[in-house]
Amino acid sequence: MSQAVALPARSFSTYDASRSDEFIRFIATLLRHSFFLADSFSSSALGTMQTLDALVLEHVQSPASSKLRTLVPSIGRIHMPLVCAEAFATYDLKYRLTARTQVPPSEEEVRHLLNLAQVFASAVGLEFISFDGDDTLYADGRNFAQSDASKLARYIVALLKNGVAVALVTAAGYKGAPEKYEARLDGLLKHFTAEALPAEALAKFYVVGGECNYLFECECVGEERSAEDGRGTVRLREVVGSWCDEHAAWADEDVGRVLDTAEASLRATAAELSLRCRVIRKERAVGIIAGGSEAKSRVPEGSGSRRMRRELLDEAALRLQTAVGQLGLNVPFCCFNGGADVWCDIGNKAFGIGALQQRLHVVPSQCLHVGDQFSTSIGNDFAARMASPTLWVAGPKETQHVLKQLLERRGVSTKTSEPKAWPPSTKRFLVFSDPLKLEDGDRVEGEPSPGKRDGQGEGDGVPDWVRG
Ligand code: IMP
Ligand code: MG
Repeated sequence: MSQAVALPARSFSTYDASRSDEFIRFIATLLRHSFFLADSFSSSALGTMQTLDALVLEHVQSPASSKLRTLVPSIGRIHMPLVCAEAFATYDLKYRLTARTQVPPSEEEVRHLLNLAQVFASAVGLEFISFDGDDTLYADGRNFAQSDASKLARYIVALLKNGVAVALVTAAGYKGAPEKYEARLDGLLKHFTAEALPAEALAKFYVVGGECNYLFECECVGEERSAEDGRGTVRLREVVGSWCDEHAAWADEDVGRVLDTAEASLRATAAELSLRCRVIRKERAVGIIAGGSEAKSRVPEGSGSRRMRRELLDEAALRLQTAVGQLGLNVPFCCFNGGADVWCDIGNKAFGIGALQQRLHVVPSQCLHVGDQFSTSIGNDFAARMASPTLWVAGPKETQHVLKQLLERRGVSTKTSEPKAWPPSTKRFLVFSDPLKLEDGDRVEGEPSPGKRDGQGEGDGVPDWVRG
């Protein structure tokens, strides 16, 4: 008789190193079939996109029982109908998908198509747009530089002048330190100054830090005050006191237990994986960053003093998620691989965006969140999907591109003398009154992007983008 084999204490979860998204893969597969099998790829692809529009509409109306949920079990909330067929036709005009004979539409192109379909659906009714920071507004670990992002800054200014509220919603948590966000947004705030953005437009710009923990508003002060403290005239001011209703429900003791457990998990993982890292603990977050030469001498056989590998960061983030999840406390958290570091933050971007929606009296279908970390597991923009339609970009250049599309679709010229790429839409999609509701057990999942920084600390060893 054979003996029962004990299962190893390893995870049997669906960790997917490819970072591909099931909905995108589903659409790419449909298009691939048409590409290779249909007589006319043009008409069959358009038919596929029209069916997709119908599937999305049905899912918006009945998310729990939709056909799309059966076909794509991991599909999340979709806040409004999309216009995939129109987006396909527009994209095809530029990139000639249907004229190709060798290369079917890729998953990357499907991501672009979905972004365009969302831009077309959102443009006219848009009231509020939020942006992730790292790898969305500026390169990972860098600042919004005036030199290389002047177009992006111009488009953001155009949105503000056009009456759209704009927010940076970032994991970076710098409590009581608006000057740190000012440094990261330097080029953008300088552009606000150069454009002499009127007070009512400045008042529509916000920063939410630590996922949902800190809120900053934008104001313009006189030259004298600016000269006194060396900060610019356009600056940020922290909103003190409770601005997010949910905060009150998160008991300090539970917050402490989440962070203690997270810290213990990170330390244990670092020891087991011989990570040459250092632990950073803040009021509402705990994380590990590359540990530099000090960690190298402390952990002679390990890795990561300058940069930790993606696989090791993923492992640490997944262990962290499991450890904190097992506590079962009534405190939402967000465990993620930030590309060069791993964090457990209290709360998540859905709460940050949801609280701003309440402040601005808007519903999800009037909003957009632009970010870079959306695919399954351990990314921190994924939670934003619960509160808002999203655009998934791969870096600041793509952010610039989607904003151009958005402005053109709103009928706002991005260059005064240039003809518009697409006629402005006159269609206004139904605004669904769907206020944010987070259910018990809602957790963050998402995708980290490959890190680009070397992670080596300077000065006290903690880089500027992390110090809190
Ligand atoms: P985001 O992409 O703008 O959400 O920023 C994520 C990055 O912010 C992380 O990968 C970290 O490098 C950095 N960061 C700095 N402080 C914190 C913090 O307190 N929690 C999480 N991430 C932080
Ligand atoms: Mg990011």
